[in-house]
Amino acid sequence: MNKQALRPNDIFNAEDSNTTRNPHIDAIVSARLSRRHLLLSGAGAAGGALLGGLGLSGCATTASAGAAAGATGLAAPLSTLGFAAVGKSLADAVTVAPGYQVQVLYALGDPLTGATPAYKNDGTDTAYEQRAGDHHDGMEWFGLDSSGQPSASSTHRALLAINHEATTDEKLSSFFLHANGGTSTLPRPAAEVDKEVAIHGLSVVEIQAKGGQWAYQAASPFNRRVTPLTEVLIHGPAKGSEHLTTKFSPDATRARGTLNNCGTGKTPWGTFVSGEENWAGYFFRDAKDDERRGKKNKQVTGLERYGRKAGAASRHGWESAGVADQYVRWNNGALASDAKSDYRNEMNTFGYVVEMDAYNIRLAVRKRTGLGRFAHESVSFAKPVPGQPVVAYRGDDSRGEYMYKFVSAAKWDAADAHSANPLAVGDKYLDQGTLYVASFKADGSGQWLALSMSNPFIAANPDFEFTSTADIAIFTRLAADAVNATRMDRPEWGGVNPRNGDFYMTLTNNSNRTVDGEMGVDAANPRSYIDLKGGNKEQKGNVNGHIIRVAQAHPADTAFTWDIYLFAAEADADKTRVNLSSLTDDNDLSAPDGLVFSPSTGICWIQTDDGAMTDKTNCMLLAAIPGKVGDGSTQTLSYKRSDGSQKRVETPMGKAQSPDILKRFLVGPVNCEITGLCESPDGRAMFINIQHPGELTAMADVGKPAKYTSHWPANAGYGAGQRPRSATIVITKRDGGVIGS
Ligand code: FEO
Ligand code: CA
Ligand code: CA
Repeated sequence: MNKQALRPNDIFNAEDSNTTRNPHIDAIVSARLSRRHLLLSGAGAAGGALLGGLGLSGCATTASAGAAAGATGLAAPLSTLGFAAVGKSLADAVTVAPGYQVQVLYALGDPLTGATPAYKNDGTDTAYEQRAGDHHDGMEWFGLDSSGQPSASSTHRALLAINHEATTDEKLSSFFLHANGGTSTLPRPAAEVDKEVAIHGLSVVEIQAKGGQWAYQAASPFNRRVTPLTEVLIHGPAKGSEHLTTKFSPDATRARGTLNNCGTGKTPWGTFVSGEENWAGYFFRDAKDDERRGKKNKQVTGLERYGRKAGAASRHGWESAGVADQYVRWNNGALASDAKSDYRNEMNTFGYVVEMDAYNIRLAVRKRTGLGRFAHESVSFAKPVPGQPVVAYRGDDSRGEYMYKFVSAAKWDAADAHSANPLAVGDKYLDQGTLYVASFKADGSGQWLALSMSNPFIAANPDFEFTSTADIAIFTRLAADAVNATRMDRPEWGGVNPRNGDFYMTLTNNSNRTVDGEMGVDAANPRSYIDLKGGNKEQKGNVNGHIIRVAQAHPADTAFTWDIYLFAAEADADKTRVNLSSLTDDNDLSAPDGLVFSPSTGICWIQTDDGAMTDKTNCMLLAAIPGKVGDGSTQTLSYKRSDGSQKRVETPMGKAQSPDILKRFLVGPVNCEITGLCESPDGRAMFINIQHPGELTAMADVGKPAKYTSHWPANAGYGAGQRPRSATIVITKRDGGVIGS
């Protein structure tokens, strides 16, 4: 959900807890590196072999991911995109490039067992533990062959593993889920809360294509839901920490569920990973909690840094629904005599990357705490190199938060790509390693700064006592503050260019970016301007966002070079300060969020979750053929301060864009976000998610279909009722060709 939108509840998506005064570019490490461009060797090689028949048992509960790791191959690079641009649109429809077709596949409430009743979509449905969740977000493809074996090459049968991030809400309730919009006052009724909890989490759903038509398989034994109540395992350095002790798991080895799952990733060993993002907003903290614990309490510092000051209200009031554990857990006050008797630490069990074997519904999800705790989006793995560490890039999506990478202690063994026990491979690579945070220098160089107990800025931090790697894993933002990492314009998804290893990250927007001050413009976040929406609504800061990219000789290195690949902007904006990438009506965009490189074509797909340009267009999907770090030149931005003095910011920028290499491919229905993207291995079927169409409908209008701002996907012929629903769609070319070519 976009943080620039208009609702009071947005505070729970936009918590803004970084009050540090980190210097921007010329931070703590002053090593000056020469600007260079570095191509990784082996670009263009496919990652894995085809292993359709490993002899694994084919049933849904014993098949495993490893057999399907890897890709089938990367095509020769395109020089131009092979479709006509889609115009900006405010239509309540999915509009796709000419020659392509769209089919709705899997929407909120769709049954995941043969015994679950069809979705009525009128607010009376129940049993959401056996239905598609809400707010479809990140998504990954896991191929199946015709006999139900994991397959890297299958193109017509697969599992989709999908995040269900949140629900369409206003004033506490999840309003399309309840007949009359639900209860917008406290206490919330347990029956409403039970439904709302169950629509969060993950789903795995089988899909098949027959005669060119895709359909999800409601009765597949592979289908799975993971909700915020599903038992999960704590893994990595935080396992057993006193800060994860709860009444549910006094030894801090287990937890309940995953929450606010936003971006995704696929590991080199073929498992699904998902980032927990705006989990903090689901927790209530009463006004007296500081008094109980003492203001100097380390855990209080942690709660505040993650956005939960004493007196913080929760997004949905789930804590108010009763005295049972499943409700009380959302109150993170210290209510009992010790942490083994209450849920003061429950919030510390969220904020991680979770790993799941999408092929095996029996195996518990594992929280990989070594990757740190923050508002995670996607997880982007560098192409693994035998004998070298595994590297995973991530971002923390709040205003002024940081970019991170994890470097495994174990060195990559290519045989692990095909393990019969891929979660054990996950243990090997993700449970031990070093977390780093990015520091960007004005000269186009940068450093990954280690967050470890051997870093004196952490071990001897005067503001927060770090005693162990577990503390760094749990209170990661405070560790990153201690090393003066660069405060970014809301890192969202990342992606690694399969052709050259460059790492891209969207920085979606930042209304707090100013010319000077604590979040003043710097080379890596160089824009602060005023945009008028609809001709009169003033929007400030980095209104439209940008995409930054990083090159390294090897992903595990601490040194990098960088540039800004793309400045999002409206086509008619000032070309010296805003539309720096020369965007036109064919490719202008705002608030880049999802970013996925196609493993088959190498096309960089960019998705938007925008509130700034929505007077002109709904959110969109664009295709890009990117170059490489260093392919442009230095751009100078000049700002005039109120006292008349000038501030100049120089930033390395990629080459100018043109519609040949950046073009709008699709526009979604009203009030939606376009997110999540995966393809069949041949690149001929693309799956994306339409999240929260109609979300700006007024709560008072729930039950009055004529007043809904969107009627999608019902108006596209999908399903019962008229309430708008988040859904997965599949896009194919009418001639059966490769998408984007
Ligand atoms: Fe769930 Fe930052 O988007
Ligand atoms: Ca505007
Ligand atoms: Ca996102």
